[in-house]
Amino acid sequence: MRIGVLTGGGDCPGLNAVIRAVVRKAIDVQGDEVVGFRDGWRGVLEDFWEELTIESTRGILPRGGTILGSSRTNPYRRKDGPQTVRETLARHRLDGLIAIGGEDTLGAATRLHRDGIPVVGVPKTIDNDLGGTEVTFGFDTALQVATDAIDRLHTTAESHHRVLVVEVMGRTAGWIALHAGIAGGADVILIPELPFDIEEACQLLRRRHARGRYFSIVVAAEGAVPKEGTMTIQTGQLDEFGHPRLGGIGHSLEREIERRTGYETRATVLGHVQRGGAPTAFDRVLATRLGLAVIDSVHERRWGTMVALRGTEIASVALVDAVADVRRVPVEEYERFGVLFG
Ligand code: F6P
Repeated sequence: MRIGVLTGGGDCPGLNAVIRAVVRKAIDVQGDEVVGFRDGWRGVLEDFWEELTIESTRGILPRGGTILGSSRTNPYRRKDGPQTVRETLARHRLDGLIAIGGEDTLGAATRLHRDGIPVVGVPKTIDNDLGGTEVTFGFDTALQVATDAIDRLHTTAESHHRVLVVEVMGRTAGWIALHAGIAGGADVILIPELPFDIEEACQLLRRRHARGRYFSIVVAAEGAVPKEGTMTIQTGQLDEFGHPRLGGIGHSLEREIERRTGYETRATVLGHVQRGGAPTAFDRVLATRLGLAVIDSVHERRWGTMVALRGTEIASVALVDAVADVRRVPVEEYERFGVLFG
């Protein structure tokens, strides 16, 4: 078979591990040929590609990012987008396309499949917010980066008797914030799923001070929102999938906490540090398992499906189900940890 591969959306540690596994199994086991499209859907629309071989993918397993490049290009925002995708596939005599991406890239793949294009998906996102799979690769790495940062911030917070606010990624789901916050022993954790009351958060900090702990760590997901009318926050420009550029809640919290409590407060925005660098061993293994499995999906022509982790096994699920809903932190799970706050 001739197979196309692309990586789309925000990059994520483990993408190269998928590409390597796909190429190794496709070429060595199946005798396939693999075409890598550059920069997500943009490469398919603009016919920007390279042949992927065992040699060209050698040594990439531990490397962060993606050797194919990525973009947030949406084929449905381009004139004749789906038709152009179809023509590119025909020009390269491709039997099918593997789209490695998150909610947006796989959302586009779902629509393309509905429009008759043979596509299968591999889930990725550090935010861990995709449906249909237990966990996405990239999340474990981002979590470790955020936890290491919190550990470091703890020691300086203690020395200076400060409140340190750590803003982490997660626009609609608070998985990184909750898990890094718990792993790092944060005193307040704010997630997008549960609009927060700034006064309640400050109360937790005051209680901690009253107990003789004169420093605190607040972890906030970038998509955390205050309860209506309690605090103003800014939103940024929209991308091609209609998402605003976030990043700003940390500094808003810094000002508001200091104003309300009188405690010296500083914010750190972790940003893209969470997405960069080498994947953890867990993410390498998960990404490799998904890459190997998706070649079976292609050979069985299971178009419109996505490989996924179900329990401890790799399974195949309908793309349409995977992208139907964002996988959010259940409020009960967040509340279970409430005893540890403050
Ligand atoms: O890929 C998801 C994500 O990590 C979000 O948490 C974040 O809002 C976004 O990427 C930021 O990505 P970029 O700055 O590349 O648009």
